[in-house]
Amino acid sequence: MNYKLIDMKVFGDERGHLISLEKGNNCPFEVKRAFYIFDTKPGIARGAHANRNSEFMLIPISGSCKVRIDDGSSSETVKLSDPHKALYLDKMLWKEMFDFSYNAILLVLTNTLYDEKEYIRDYNEYLRAATPDLGGG
Ligand code: TYD
Repeated sequence: MNYKLIDMKVFGDERGHLISLEKGNNCPFEVKRAFYIFDTKPGIARGAHANRNSEFMLIPISGSCKVRIDDGSSSETVKLSDPHKALYLDKMLWKEMFDFSYNAILLVLTNTLYDEKEYIRDYNEYLRAATPDLGGG
């Protein structure tokens, strides 16, 4: 499955820590957009979609959450709780974020500008697109 946990380079000294991301440095793509998810309500899930063009880096700046990643044939769940570790997600993965801790802040970086047309929000449509040999495409 095309995701990986990236152990990011940290600049640390007696003042604290700093992490920088740019293409080729902690991040595999050129960042075009950032957004963050915060003030999540108990028990909710976010995401539940795939993106035709966007790759993502998910960074739990504060607190924790889980991410279920599905490629159309299997699914895996990753817990994000360490701000040194980013989750890289390739395009065309179905993902769902859930189990946010109280006051969690999840930073998301991506290689695209926002375009609702590249979202697949229907799971059956995703399966058809992700597994074209099964009759989709
Ligand atoms: P949504 O895709 O539902 O968020 P999530 O992936 O966390 O479930 O997006 C919520 C709203 O924010 C929706 O109206 C689209 C808008 N939005 C933007 O305008 N720009 C963005 O970069 C993102 C990620 C969302």
